[in-house]
Formats: sequence, structure tokens, C-alpha cells
Amino acid sequence: MLVLGIESTCDETACSIVHNGREILSNVVSSQINLHAQYGGVVPELACQRHVDVLIPVIDEALKTAKISLADIDLIAVANGPGLIGALLIGLNAAKALSLALDKPLIGVNHIEAHLYAALMSHPNIHTFPCLGIVLSGGHTSLFHLEEIGKHTVIAKTVDDAIGEAFDKVAKMLGLSYPGGPIIETMARQGDPSQYKFRAGQVKGSPMDFSFSGLKTAVLYGIQGRTLTESDKCNVAAAFQEAALTDVVRKTLIAAKHQNCKTLLFGGGVTHNKRLRQLFAEAAPELTQLWPAEGLSLDNAAMIAGLGYHLYNKRGNGDGLHLEPFTR
Ligand code: KG4
Ligand code: ZN
Repeated sequence: MLVLGIESTCDETACSIVHNGREILSNVVSSQINLHAQYGGVVPELACQRHVDVLIPVIDEALKTAKISLADIDLIAVANGPGLIGALLIGLNAAKALSLALDKPLIGVNHIEAHLYAALMSHPNIHTFPCLGIVLSGGHTSLFHLEEIGKHTVIAKTVDDAIGEAFDKVAKMLGLSYPGGPIIETMARQGDPSQYKFRAGQVKGSPMDFSFSGLKTAVLYGIQGRTLTESDKCNVAAAFQEAALTDVVRKTLIAAKHQNCKTLLFGGGVTHNKRLRQLFAEAAPELTQLWPAEGLSLDNAAMIAGLGYHLYNKRGNGDGLHLEPFTR
């Protein structure tokens, strides 16, 4: 079964062709990073304009790379949420138009769930379920108990900022460009985390929930009114990163124990961070840790097409043209 996946939830326009949920024939991502960098974050109106401009060329390129034509497609999968409403509508309406024109089924895929499926695509032969899913991205920070593909319960989530958002905001405070995550990681490698005492927030009565807005404010107070040298900035980046990542590791391991999960499944842009992977490897060598492969951790459409294949086969039917977008 050949699935064409479309992703347009935020600031990446992507299309991918995936065979039988696993074999990636093409994975085209048009990133809008340069467009939004000057504003220090995603500007929804600009994101939408760019999606409109590039979506059809991106679909064409995905088909060309996969060496197939639209007539070969068996199913159209689209990320219908969560995300920016305008951005979602563009991908969703393109998917509906393709479904109608080709007379092929359409299926909506949850973007967050797809981030977790990305790690499964990278490790097809490992028996994983039940497992603990950890999604760390610019919009989400959540822990899930996964019984099987498409069947999950939320265990914990952030009560304020997402972890990637905190990386981006701290980078902005330090005068660094967007997205902040990769730059903070690079600077942190040269910094000394012990120079600043930062801690991520604890949520009263919910020991596994996350809170990063206090950490962000602590960084602001730590640097306010001072002229920072490059080395100061590296120390701030290191201390912030260590506080944010150790908090994720600690809460994840509490959840894994609580849920009796022996496998951790990671997804989302922040899982690109090497220090995070190192901390998990050191803290829990006894647990199987599945990370997305290169090209599958940041937003992409291969994960949408891959998960769409499984959801369609499980349900035995698609969603139809009444499929709605959802923002949260
Ligand atoms: O999953 P993603 O591409 O988009 C969302 O669905 O949000 O994640 C983007 C987020 C951004 O906040 C970015 O700063 C963060 O992932 N990120 C990182 C790293 N690479 C990307 N955060 C920390 N370390 C990294 N190496
Ligand atoms: Zn994402």
C-alpha cells in the first residue's frame, strides 16, 4: 500500500510517500526557519502564506523522488491537528482535494502520536508494547502510556510552556536566533552548568507533570541588566539545558516505573538533543530506548504517512471529506 502523507501543522511544509507503513520512498520537508528567524518565533500568518506557496511543489517533489505518480497512491494521510488552525486547513484541504480527485481514501493523523510512531519506523523489529511515549517538541511536552499503535493514555503534560518553546525563548533572551534548541545545545557543550542554579518547576499534586515557565523566568532574572560575555552565555545555556533535561529524565523514569514500562519511545524536535540521549542512557541502561532516526525527529510527513497506514488498516476505512482540523 502506497501512502501519501501531508504535514503542515506549524512551520514545516512536508510530503512523504511511504510503502506499507515502514519503507520511506521520499521524505520532503520545506522548512520555514529562515522566514520566522527574524521574529524569534513562528508568525502564523506568514506560515500560512508559505504553506500555500510551497505545498504543491513539495507534493510534486515527493512523488518525483519516489518515482511514482498520483495514480499509484492508495491512501492519503494528513496531520489534522494539533497545530495552527490556518496552517492545518491548508494541508487538510489539499489532502481532501487529492482524495476527491483521485477517488482514494483519506485519513486524519494526530501529529503528536505520529511523532511517537517515527521512533517505531526507525526500529521495526523491536517488540515494544506496552511502552512509555515521550513527546518533546516546540508545542508539546507529554508522557503517554501506549498499549498499541493508536491506543494511548496521557500520563503527564506541561502545565505551561512546552520544553522546545522554553529552549526557543531562552535563546531569544540570549540574543540567539530561532529555533533556539540546536544553538543552546551547541553553546551548552562549551559551558559550565554549575555557574547558575536553575531548576524546572514542580506541579503540586502532579509529580510527573511539567512546568518550564518558572525556569524561563529564572533565566531572565539571572541575566537581566548584565552584559554577558560569550562564555557567560555558554554557562547560562548549559545550566538551563541541564535543568530542563534532567527534569524530563527524572519524571519520565517515575512514570516508567509507575506504568511498569520497560521500553521508552521518544518523539519530537527536542529528542534531537544529544545531551538528552546521553542522560537517558546513563540514567536507565536497563530500559529499551527507541529514538527517531535522522530526518524523523523534527516535523516530517513520513511519520504521518506511516501512522496513517496503520490507522487505516486497523479501522478498515478512512475519515471522509467531513474530517475537521483540531488545534489542541
Ligand atoms: O517537533 P518539532 O520539529 O516541531 C513541533 O512540533 O513543535 O520541534 C521543534 C522544537 C523547537 O522548539 C526547537 O528549538 C527544538 O524542537 N529543538 C531542539 C533541538 N533541535 C530542535 N531542542 C533542544 N535541542 C535540540 N538539539
Ligand atoms: Zn512536531
